Amino acid sequence: MANESNQATEKRLPPHSPLREYYRADEQREEYVMELFDRTAKYYDTVEKLFLNGGLLYRRLSMKFAGIRPGMKILDIATGTGAVYRGAARLVGPSGLVVGVDPSAGMLAESRKSHGGPLVRGFAQALPIASDHFDFVTMGIALRHVPDLRAAFSEYFRVLKPGGQVWILESHVPKSPMAHAMTKFLWAKVIPGMTLLSTGSRDAKLLMDYYWDTIDKCVEPPEIVSALSDVGFADARSNLIVPGAFLEYRARKPS
Ligand SMILES: C[S@@+](CC[C@H](N)C(=O)[O-])C[C@H]1O[C@@H](n2cnc3c(N)ncnc32)[C@H](O)[C@@H]1O
Repeated sequence: MANESNQATEKRLPPHSPLREYYRADEQREEYVMELFDRTAKYYDTVEKLFLNGGLLYRRLSMKFAGIRPGMKILDIATGTGAVYRGAARLVGPSGLVVGVDPSAGMLAESRKSHGGPLVRGFAQALPIASDHFDFVTMGIALRHVPDLRAAFSEYFRVLKPGGQVWILESHVPKSPMAHAMTKFLWAKVIPGMTLLSTGSRDAKLLMDYYWDTIDKCVEPPEIVSALSDVGFADARSNLIVPGAFLEYRARKPS
């Protein structure tokens, strides 16, 4: 059983094929993503405000629904400016702990402005974190940036306590041609345009252009659910919450 699981984790599963219009070779992707987030960190919360911070409320409510409770220990991966972190911190209260991890120094610097909790620089696929420690691993809108989904999920499995859970918020792109066209118009045209108008930054617009291209090219939810199961998680599933906007993945490390 352990052998089968190890073999599964050896197969690389990138979240999408290389996006040549942004970087030339796959090996340049990580550096491209890091520089993009470093450059745009100061605009990230402005972009959230375009949505009237509804995404912050959504993140907190869905984590509450997923079972995050006072006193729990949470590892928030790809913490960015802290959109998930702050919601989780409210849910766990003063008796709990939230640790944020992100590879972008720019994003971590922005996050530090809004809370004084622990932040660690690191990548999802190689977490600088001890094993068997957390009740929940959370990740908001960042799965498409890891180079290998199975490598990242193996790390989530490792750092969770037995019985611990993973909650991943991702974007949803509908399949039907009509719904896809409407979603594309919103995310590939309206939102990048509004972002440029409100920030005056071409980099911030580029971040939103890149956002659409990565969500549109992302592997399908059943493949992501299988990858969670491949590394040993139980009850792996996806729940569609807001069509054309949000989808969540949940799974549990067996006790
Ligand atoms: C769209 S932001 C998400 C921020 C926040 N979690 C949220 O819900 O809004 C994506 C974040 O993923 C981070 N990131 C990119 N590559 C990563 C990797 N390989 N491992 C962990 N985080 C990564 C970026 O630095 C960025 O802060």
